[in-house]
Amino acid sequence: VFIGLDLGTGGVRAIAVDLQGQAIAQATSSYPLLTPQPGWTEQNPADWLEASLEALLALTQKLNSHKIVALGLSGQMHGMVPLDADGTVIRPAILWNDQRTGKAVEIIEKAISRQELIARTGNPAITGFQLPKIVWLRNEEPQAYTRMQQVLLPKDYLGYMLTGELVTEPSDASGIGCLNLAQKQWDADILKAINISPVLFPAIVESTAIAGKLKPTIAERTGLPAGLPVIAGGGDNAAAAIGLGISSSNLNLGSLSIGTSGVIFVPCDRPIPDPEGRVHLFCHADGGYHLLGVTLAAGGALRWYRDTFAPQTTFTDLMAVAELSQPGARGVLFLPHLAGERSPHLDPDTRGAWVNLSLAHTQADVVRAVLEGVAFSLRAALEIIKPIAPVHQLLATGGGARSHTWLQILADVLQAELIAPQAEEGAAYGAAILAMVGVGAYPNLEAAFKILPQESKVVQPQVNPLYETAFERYSLLYESLKPVR
Ligand code: XUL
Repeated sequence: VFIGLDLGTGGVRAIAVDLQGQAIAQATSSYPLLTPQPGWTEQNPADWLEASLEALLALTQKLNSHKIVALGLSGQMHGMVPLDADGTVIRPAILWNDQRTGKAVEIIEKAISRQELIARTGNPAITGFQLPKIVWLRNEEPQAYTRMQQVLLPKDYLGYMLTGELVTEPSDASGIGCLNLAQKQWDADILKAINISPVLFPAIVESTAIAGKLKPTIAERTGLPAGLPVIAGGGDNAAAAIGLGISSSNLNLGSLSIGTSGVIFVPCDRPIPDPEGRVHLFCHADGGYHLLGVTLAAGGALRWYRDTFAPQTTFTDLMAVAELSQPGARGVLFLPHLAGERSPHLDPDTRGAWVNLSLAHTQADVVRAVLEGVAFSLRAALEIIKPIAPVHQLLATGGGARSHTWLQILADVLQAELIAPQAEEGAAYGAAILAMVGVGAYPNLEAAFKILPQESKVVQPQVNPLYETAFERYSLLYESLKPVR
C-alpha cells in the first residue's frame, strides 16, 4: 500500500491506498490553531509533527500485513516555517489565512510592479502567500529574520522532519510568491528587487520525485519501514486534483470544492495568468499548471448562517427551506465576503451583506440567497478563468456538494456540468497516487488515473434568466458597498 499524508489546517489525515486505488485504512489527528492577534493565524510545527506521527502510527496499526511501499505528502499551502542554521524552528508558522501582511504586500509591489509579478509568478503579491510573510518578519521581528537560514512550506517542513532533506516541489512552491512559473525556479530578479536571498528557499524537485528516505527514528515511532521513500507530493489543492484525476492534458475537466471555502480548480498546459491577477495561477503536480478561484466563505457562509440564526437546524433542513424560495431568491442578494475575499477582488477587508430585503421575504429567501451568493462569487471567478482555460465539466466535492439543491444552483449559475464523484478521498488520497508514480508502481500519472472510480452522478446546467439577472445585480454590489465599510 501507498500512504498519503495531508497536513491540513484543522488536522492531519493519513490514508493507505492499494494499487487498485482502494482506500484500505485512514487515521487523523488534530492540532490547535493559534490566533495571537485578530487576523493572525499560526500553528506550532512541533504540533504538526506530533500529530503526523500519531496518525501514521494509528494507520500502521490498522495495516498489519500490508507491505508499505512509499509515502506521499500534501498540505495547506502558503505558510511560513522559518528555520535557523541548525534546522530549529525559530517562531510558530504563519498560515495561509493570516491577514497581517498588508504593508509587506505594498513593499513588494513598490519594489517590483504588479504587472511584472503577475507575468513572472502568475500572481500579484497576495496577503496569504509566503513571500509577504518573510518581508513582515524582516520588518517586525528582525532578530528572528537575521537568525533565519532556511524557510519552508508546511508540508515541506514535515518532509524535512521525516527525511532530513530540504526540498519543495512546484505546486506548493508556486504559492510562495517568487517562483518563476515558466522556469519553475526561484525568480532571482524578484528576490533581488526586495533584497531577499534565494538560498533561504529549498531545492525544487518534481512532485513525484523522491524527496528523501524515512529516518530510522521516525520509523521506530510510526511503525513505518526505515528508508521508506517519501515523495515530494503537492499543495493540497493540486494533490486533491490528482486524486480526482484532473490533469493538464485534459483541459475539459476541473473541480469545484465547497468546503469552508469554495475552490474552482481548472488545469491548463501553459502558464497564462489573468492580466489583473484576479484568480491564482499555480503549477499543477503533474508538470502542467492550473488556475484557482477561491471564495473564502462558501460552506463557511452557510455554517455561519446556521450557527447565528438557526442553531437547531441541520444543513439538510436548511436546504429544504431554501427550496421553498425560487431561483433569484425573490430578489434578495447575498454577498458572501464574511472573511474578506480572494477571487476576484483580492480584498481582505471587504465584508458580506444581504441586500434588497423586504417585509415579504422569508427565511427561505434569505437562506437561498446565501447559497446563490456563494455560487455567484464562484461564477465571477469562473468568468475570468474561462477565456484562459475553457473547462466544461467540474467534479464537485466537499460537504456543500452533498446537497442536490446546492449542486443544481451551482450548475445553473456556473453554466457548467457538475459531476459528483462516487468516492471522494481528498488531498491525502492524491498524495498516495503521487507516491505510486514516484516509485514507479505506475509509469506516469495518466496510467495511475485509470484506477480512480469511474461511476458518478452528473448534474446538467439549466439556463434560468432569473439567475442571469440576479448575477448582473450581484456584480454591482462589491463596488457599490465599498463606501459603507
Ligand atoms: C489556496 C489556499 C488554500 C490552502 C488551504 O490558495 O490558500 O486552499 O491551501 O489549505
